[in-house]
Amino acid sequence: MNSKTTISTLDTMKAEGRRIAVLTAYDAGFARLAEAAGVDVILVGDSLGMVVQGQESTLPVTVEDMVYHTAMVKRGCSRPLIVADMPFMSHGTPRQALDNAGRLMKEGGAHMVKLEGGHAQVETVKHLTDRAVPVCAHLGLLPQSIHQLGGYKVQGRDSRGAERILADAHELQDAGAQMLVLECVPELLAREISLALEIPVIGIGAGRGCDGQVLVLHDMLGITPGKVPRFSRNFMAEADSIEGAIRAYVDAVHDGSFPAEEHCFR
Ligand code: KIV
Repeated sequence: MNSKTTISTLDTMKAEGRRIAVLTAYDAGFARLAEAAGVDVILVGDSLGMVVQGQESTLPVTVEDMVYHTAMVKRGCSRPLIVADMPFMSHGTPRQALDNAGRLMKEGGAHMVKLEGGHAQVETVKHLTDRAVPVCAHLGLLPQSIHQLGGYKVQGRDSRGAERILADAHELQDAGAQMLVLECVPELLAREISLALEIPVIGIGAGRGCDGQVLVLHDMLGITPGKVPRFSRNFMAEADSIEGAIRAYVDAVHDGSFPAEEHCFR
């Protein structure tokens, strides 16, 4: 597909049961490779704090960092939809979120912003979407809440947690969110949410029932320092180039062979 990916493209892919391949990128060079390999959506994730800046978590990442990296990604590609993360403490109030999302779109060139959180973010999501800022919500494991959660743990395993995530997903969709990332939740819950929502649901560690998948670039290239999450796969292991590894990932998402059983949580 050579035409630009828009949110309508993603809605159509969901309606037709075609899976959406999302990958993080943080600069022009990798954005170019991701585009050439057929990635549908590039996420300029605040994971850059860990994989690019060498921080221990995503918390130190600033709006300035996100604008800088988003602008680089924007210069490197023209077809994929570009989603930029709103970093920790950049969306505490609707007003603050609007100012910062505006910067990510005007200065960074993002087509959509992503923000972590459930019920507490509903008013902010409505404020943004009422003002023409497309929003991707993010539920399940929220890396910006890592100290509150007590670690990088699977979320929604008990019925109370699962019901909360399902209810939040509906609320965020009703508030205008046009996409949802679900991170580290049991496969059955992610499948239920993907079937229940009209908007595309993109999983990471959320099993095979989502409308698309996202991975962190460094994880799928096998260059993440330290422990790689169990839900990821090193596509570089069997590829002879970075573009080839990304293409293998895109193909595996599109044909449903990634994620496999061993990448899913119960
Ligand atoms: O920052 C990021 O890369 C993300 C993905 C883990 C979904 O939010």
